[in-house]
Amino acid sequence: MSSLLQEPSSIDSSIESSSLSSTTSSTTSMGISEPMVAAMFDRISDRYDFLNRLLSARQDLRWRKFLVSMIPTRKGGTYLDMATGTGDVLLAATKSHPEYATFIGCDISKGMLDVAHKKAVAMGLSERMTWEVMSAETIALESQSVDCASISFGLRNVVNKEKSLTEFARVVKPGGLFLILEFFTPTSGIMSRVFQYYFHHVLPKIGRLFSEKEAYAYLPKSVASFYSPTDLRASLQSKGFTVEKEINFLFGACRLVKSRRGNFQSK
Ligand SMILES: C[S@@+](CC[C@H](N)C(=O)[O-])C[C@H]1O[C@@H](n2cnc3c(N)ncnc32)[C@H](O)[C@@H]1O
Repeated sequence: MSSLLQEPSSIDSSIESSSLSSTTSSTTSMGISEPMVAAMFDRISDRYDFLNRLLSARQDLRWRKFLVSMIPTRKGGTYLDMATGTGDVLLAATKSHPEYATFIGCDISKGMLDVAHKKAVAMGLSERMTWEVMSAETIALESQSVDCASISFGLRNVVNKEKSLTEFARVVKPGGLFLILEFFTPTSGIMSRVFQYYFHHVLPKIGRLFSEKEAYAYLPKSVASFYSPTDLRASLQSKGFTVEKEINFLFGACRLVKSRRGNFQSK
């Protein structure tokens, strides 16, 4: 399948110009809008993979492997990786599940998708994959058309997360899987304090050395304002998903949530 890269919708401002006090529904609690998020990832797209490996001491590869190991076998199935970024999950899914007919990777950052597409070409997988500039808040796919959907380190960046979860509930087939890999704020134990220190003080400094200051200052803030594991579970359930399994990494700082779409309509 050929690449379907399109121009992203108006990238009209940069993160530097964000008003942190804005509370409008089109921005996060940090005052960041979707075009700002897209522009930020466009700017760091060429260094994203390198920094991911560096800042997580290559643990990100292990966490994504766990996610891929949960993908069910579906002959002729459709796989959606939303907020696919530079495509690591979709590339691994395509390699490990050749029985699927359709692999779709979506993101609001064209810069990230361009890197993903280049990697797919280098791996000889590009014919099997479709890349689309698309928001997790308005998934341009038919209802109940996806056998397995995933979002890794992406949901935290989505401005209207509830709207996005409703969209996932709409597009995933009854009985289909929805896999979320994300950072959370660990709440107890000495390791959680160590992690908090690393995340808030060390990581932004390292990120700043290799990339732009704002992107790696934004990361810990976006985690701090994300769902708690309990709230995410409740939200998934309210949309019609049943949470079947949760795996903690790094003392709960990173979590893989496997949920299955029920047969009932989402609220
Ligand atoms: C931290 S990266 C994660 C990329 C990849 N999934 C991974 O595991 O490395 C977050 C990605 O989410 C994308 N993103 C943010 N908001 C989005 C939205 N509303 N819809 C789709 N993608 C979004 C960003 O452009 C970025 O590529």
